[in-house]
Amino acid sequence: MDFRPDPAGPPVYIQLATALAEAIRAGRMAVGSRLPSERMHARRLGVSRTTITAAYQELKAMGLVQAHVGRGAQVVADDPDRAAAEAVAWPLLAARAPRPPPPPPAPPGAIGFGDGWLHPSLLPRAGLDACAARAVEAGALAGYAPILGLPALRESLAARMKLGVEEVLVTGGAQQGLNVITRALLAPGDAVVCESPTWHGAVRAFRAAGAELAGVAMDREGIDPGALEDALLRRRPKFVYLIPSFHCPTGRLLGLERRRQVLELCARFRTPIVESHVYGELAFGAAPPSLKALDTAGIVIHQGSASKTISAALRLGWLAAPPAALALLAPAKASLDLSTPALPQAILAGFLAGSQVARHFATLRAALQRRRDAMLAALARHCPELRCAVPQGGLYLWAQLPTPLAAGALEAEAARHGVAVRAGGLFLPAGGESRHIRLCFAAPAEAEIADGAERLGRALRGLMARKDAPCRESAVAAV
Ligand SMILES: Cc1ncc(COP(=O)(O)O)c(C=O)c1O
Repeated sequence: MDFRPDPAGPPVYIQLATALAEAIRAGRMAVGSRLPSERMHARRLGVSRTTITAAYQELKAMGLVQAHVGRGAQVVADDPDRAAAEAVAWPLLAARAPRPPPPPPAPPGAIGFGDGWLHPSLLPRAGLDACAARAVEAGALAGYAPILGLPALRESLAARMKLGVEEVLVTGGAQQGLNVITRALLAPGDAVVCESPTWHGAVRAFRAAGAELAGVAMDREGIDPGALEDALLRRRPKFVYLIPSFHCPTGRLLGLERRRQVLELCARFRTPIVESHVYGELAFGAAPPSLKALDTAGIVIHQGSASKTISAALRLGWLAAPPAALALLAPAKASLDLSTPALPQAILAGFLAGSQVARHFATLRAALQRRRDAMLAALARHCPELRCAVPQGGLYLWAQLPTPLAAGALEAEAARHGVAVRAGGLFLPAGGESRHIRLCFAAPAEAEIADGAERLGRALRGLMARKDAPCRESAVAAV
């Protein structure tokens, strides 16, 4: 700021405060921006530090600026009248760790390929309705569940995973499981190694704890063990977070040999693995065992969810961990919510104990496979420019755009054409642009898949025809 005091004017600190207030009001110093430190500002303007202190006091009195120890003075409002009406300066109270805003919801009326949900027709509605009625009848509305979860549900889950019940903790969705792990294990500055791309909810949870993420490149078979070893050596992470089965967002499946290599590597580095198995039960054919099932060293914390297989409305997930790890996770869970709601737990326990569960999983896998094929066929017809591998399970296609289109531009153009997709950049731990989009074949009505692909094709060609659409390739991650 160019400031020249007028020797004939009021005291210099008043002149300076007036000039700064003017710059704030005019938007030249935005709300949220920091004022220079008093010492630096005094040196820059050639005035005494007491002049700067007094000028900042004036701005504080006007309600335009607030100071916090260790953060200096920050602009909190651009209008003294409005500032006076606001009792709390919210921008100043924001936690320091980055918390990026959640991705925007799909535009109303759009065909939804964007989010990872099961279409209502894929849910075991009748079975869940009956289990809900029985759970209420049996008194599930009466109170809190134990911190680790309802015993009946923990027993069912343990039996399905072939683990001891003492290793199982029920969480409010897999996302809460990630926050439980984060709370138990991460401190600001810790490193976490993950695949790149990866589930953006995990990135959010780890970043909110102040952790630094190191993304490891994947190829068609999942994470590359050589690159993982390199990251373990260089970053010495607190843990490695992996989605080995029908990975989100790429749909890839880590082969048995690589699973063994990853386990051996992490055991050698004495580094735990957090294994997300939320898509693991959605294999269309034979699939290798989970890392947890192959783990002989006791290094895997395994997480599952009912959201992608039974119903996201139950909002239930679970962690399975060696007892010494569970002893850290349980207090972290208690600090979050003391316990997961009892009613959904009772419903899920009833459903898993019933005879319909195996039939439901078989029907669901067959329906998902049919939808995958329908979407691949529709894309081949309407979007021949896209390239995708054929996933052997899960919910997603990971489609590569023709060079040099950027996925963010296609997501926006697709929304304008009435189809929601997710640009790959959302899933990059380091952020940035991507050449891929994620398409969920489970979320739309089956009959909408062809129409959605046709809309996407129109968006794609509209974008390719526009001169300003291509982005420079160097700015796009090749994942
Ligand atoms: C890998 C992964 N973990 C967790 C979640 C969230 O699961 P939940 O609904 O159980 O919280 C998702 C949702 O897309 C996911 O892809």
